[in-house]
Amino acid sequence: MSSKLSLDRILQSQGVGTRKWCRELISDGEVQIDGVVVDDYRLMFETNGLVFTLFDEEWVYRKHLYLALNKPSNFECSRKPSHHPAVLTLLPEEFSWREVQPVGRLDHDTTGLLLLSDDGAFIHAQSSAKRHVPKVYVATTQDPVTDELIAQLLGGVQLHDEPAPLAALECRKQGEHQLEIVLDQGKYHQVKRMLAAAGNHCAALRRSAINQLTLESLDLEEGEWCYLDSDQLGLLG
Ligand code: URA
Repeated sequence: MSSKLSLDRILQSQGVGTRKWCRELISDGEVQIDGVVVDDYRLMFETNGLVFTLFDEEWVYRKHLYLALNKPSNFECSRKPSHHPAVLTLLPEEFSWREVQPVGRLDHDTTGLLLLSDDGAFIHAQSSAKRHVPKVYVATTQDPVTDELIAQLLGGVQLHDEPAPLAALECRKQGEHQLEIVLDQGKYHQVKRMLAAAGNHCAALRRSAINQLTLESLDLEEGEWCYLDSDQLGLLG
């Protein structure tokens, strides 16, 4: 489907800055398309497949952003963090202009796979409790992982403010103090509270996958992010 926009709107939509600022940049000759300076901000361009150059840097037009971040510890998912920097500070500044936000939240001390986007429909669909998207976590426990602990997490544990016990979809021991747990709900501090309710303590937590999309397949160092392509988005279900 073709989609044309004026150059100033294109720059603004990509998070370059305000409309006024984008017009100034264009009029000043800072923007090139196909190696040619375009200094008329009213000119219309097809956005599909558009690449423009701003200050000699190439920008690929993206209608929406779909990102994965390997979240480090001590970053908050909130836009207005209280004790630690926001995860958004790990992304290029233009993404904030585009109002990119995390899809759901991880605790400040949880690491691993975090999705971010500026597509409201995608964020809503991914975070909807009704969809029961399985999320895989690796928890390091304070006390050893026992068969009884695994059985309790699979059978369901009662949390204080929940009407019914919550059970893991899957749970398996990975080491003396490590287990993998799969949940299809996203209640507040759910893994930590489930482990506490089962008589252990979560010393560290990492999200390793969301549905079929694994952090390992993305090959991101902690603090690194990447764009997700349509195949990778498909793995989210
Ligand atoms: N469960 C938790 O306890 N914390 C998270 O960050 C995610 C799931």
